[in-house]
Amino acid sequence: MAAKAKSQFVCQNCGAVSSRWQGRCEDCGEWNTLVEESATGGVGAGPGGVLRKGRVVALTSLVGGSAEAPRVVTGIAEFDRVTGGGFVRGSALLVGGDPGIGKSTLLLQAAAALANRGVPVVYVSGEEAAAQIQMRAERLGLSQAPVRLASETSVEDILATLGDGKPPGLVVIDSIQTLWTERADSAPGTVTQVRAASQALIRYAKQSGACVVFVGHVTKDGQIAGPRVVEHMVDAVLYFEGDGGHHYRILRGVKNRFGPTDEIGVFEMTGAGLREVANPSELFLGERNAATPGAAVFAGMEGTRPILVEIQALVAPTAMGTPRRAVIGWDQSRLAMILAVLETHCRVRLGDCEVYLNVAGGLRIDEPAADLAVAAALVSSRLGTPLPPDRVYFGEVSLSGAIRPVSHAGARLKEARKLGFGQAVMPASALERDSLNGATGVEQLADLVASIAAASRLREAAE
Ligand code: TYD
Ligand code: MG
Repeated sequence: MAAKAKSQFVCQNCGAVSSRWQGRCEDCGEWNTLVEESATGGVGAGPGGVLRKGRVVALTSLVGGSAEAPRVVTGIAEFDRVTGGGFVRGSALLVGGDPGIGKSTLLLQAAAALANRGVPVVYVSGEEAAAQIQMRAERLGLSQAPVRLASETSVEDILATLGDGKPPGLVVIDSIQTLWTERADSAPGTVTQVRAASQALIRYAKQSGACVVFVGHVTKDGQIAGPRVVEHMVDAVLYFEGDGGHHYRILRGVKNRFGPTDEIGVFEMTGAGLREVANPSELFLGERNAATPGAAVFAGMEGTRPILVEIQALVAPTAMGTPRRAVIGWDQSRLAMILAVLETHCRVRLGDCEVYLNVAGGLRIDEPAADLAVAAALVSSRLGTPLPPDRVYFGEVSLSGAIRPVSHAGARLKEARKLGFGQAVMPASALERDSLNGATGVEQLADLVASIAAASRLREAAE
């Protein structure tokens, strides 16, 4: 009996497979993401579905690997920092980001930088014609770089081209969503296609020793559309972020088998491409108006690098039932916790207030060390009292209201002093250890609230 062509339903968001169509994916909970794809033509099926007999592979021992992964350095310091010191030979890397954020620009600049250093580079675009990329190269002043360019979407043709001659050091695939392979018979852009195409190119990377970089577009909710499965297949995932209103862009490592994931690279989009920003603090504090209540400067760390950033809070009384709480650039539940600690342990009334919190410059902060700066900004806004303009804050707040120490106190203070901040409010325990002048240690959040309240009373008395 001839086997009936079997079909399955694959979630285009998370790659989960279901035997029947459903409106909502059971795995990730997304709506309308299930698409019918052929089960037999997918990845892993041999020709005609006949299973090949396995061959014996040589087993080896754990000794023999070199300690350091062999890397190709671009010389673009902000890029190399995030990859952990350059592209790793034989690895695959995914650069995700919103459409229009500058991924193609970034990778063309990296490709040209490598090519200028004598590394053979191939740039394959499935989205733009060669002429468009040449125009961009012209604009970036890179048209003389010996990058070899192709406009192509067929994986088979790309592999044949790459296999012709000496393998390149770097291959850029822009973007993975446009690729199409004959190994899978689903439509381009579907999970099956993207997975099969990535698999073929990752295999090429491992065999040839080239580094393959995929560009991937991200959906509204911050996931790489369709090829979220690719995130698990590649060795490293970087996100290129930024917001429409600003010119700066942040390259952030979210997964890296060969390096750190907490480093960021900062760039500025200019008329002539992306410019490296070696001192991001100056950028994030650039538009600062220190005299307004509700602004506190946080001395943060991004990986090994200290970054000063302004936290802005607006606390306003509400007439409506449930007050709004909105956060940009920080964790919503972390804000809820700080608000609860302020209410419970510091007797700051916030229950009937709307609270808005924003991290300036479109930066996203994950560090609990920002707690103290957030609390300072909130109290400052609630009391209508500006904080001293030359003061930074860092420290973690526990549920009891105690201030807990955070790492890298010395580096944070050094960066603050470098940028003209003479004062710091920080965990008291870290203070004893580092004993730095201009720094005030706090043990309880209530102490900080009391000092802002005292400043507020002084201000009122003066008026
Ligand atoms: P692009 O790299 O095409 O984005 P992506 O590949 O992520 O979709 O960049 C798109 C934007 O960058 C576009 O709006 C124009 C802007 N841009 C500049 O401002 N300066 C430049 O030198 C270049 C090349 C692009
Ligand atoms: Mg692009």
